[in-house]
Amino acid sequence: MRILFVGDVVGSLGREMVEEYLPKLKEKYRPQITIINGENAAGGRGITEKIYREFLSAGAQAVTLGNHTWDNKEIFDFIEEAKYLVRPANFPDNNPGKGLVYLKYNSEEIAVINLQGRTFMQPSDCPFEKAEQLIEEAKQRTPVIFVDFHGETTSEKQAMGWYLDGKVSAVIGTHTHVQTADQRILPNGTAFMSDVGMTGPYDGILGMEREAVLKRFITNMPVRFEVPKSGRGILSAVTIDIDMKTGKAKKIESVLINDDHPFYS
Ligand SMILES: [Fe+2]
Repeated sequence: MRILFVGDVVGSLGREMVEEYLPKLKEKYRPQITIINGENAAGGRGITEKIYREFLSAGAQAVTLGNHTWDNKEIFDFIEEAKYLVRPANFPDNNPGKGLVYLKYNSEEIAVINLQGRTFMQPSDCPFEKAEQLIEEAKQRTPVIFVDFHGETTSEKQAMGWYLDGKVSAVIGTHTHVQTADQRILPNGTAFMSDVGMTGPYDGILGMEREAVLKRFITNMPVRFEVPKSGRGILSAVTIDIDMKTGKAKKIESVLINDDHPFYS
């Protein structure tokens, strides 16, 4: 079976890229499961119920989150009912929502886990320990386990890849918004990539208006970051082929769409 994972959708431009290209990607790659990281989907910070539902209608089976999970306060009104919304599992146990979700695929299941790194990020419980715990739980139901590891550093993300090699089907990094070219199958059958990259404004800086970011760097003064609402778009994703019986990954392929890498059907 094949999973298509679309990286960090940022703002309205990101959502437009999903709307335009997800049907084309589905036709080209024919994934059985599509997962979207939507933690920046509402104006760059957080997600609303309307956007979550739009992603499901566009053909996603699950939506993962990250450090911006709580930034749009609307989330508190719907997260408990949102069956396919996955927030970092290593947030405190008393937080609403869940970090492990099961998706149906024919008569089988796929586990989707979201974790957040701790290097240069807000404090959270140990993602390695939490991963072990959830994998043990998920293995009772399925060998196919997909992990979105939302982290700032390539080193922490690579560490998680090696730590979980042979225990899960895929460890794919999110959060840094730039696609890395290190996709590979680790020796024990786990597909890995440090960062899948972002989906949204192509001409900003990590999806934000570049003028404001430049001003911040040049003047060292606080500035308000906004997400551009128009301009050129980028979509970053990855496909992973997994053996349903063993849960081992067979193939990983990156997907990048922008004016410098146009989409070919
Ligand atoms: Fe993030």
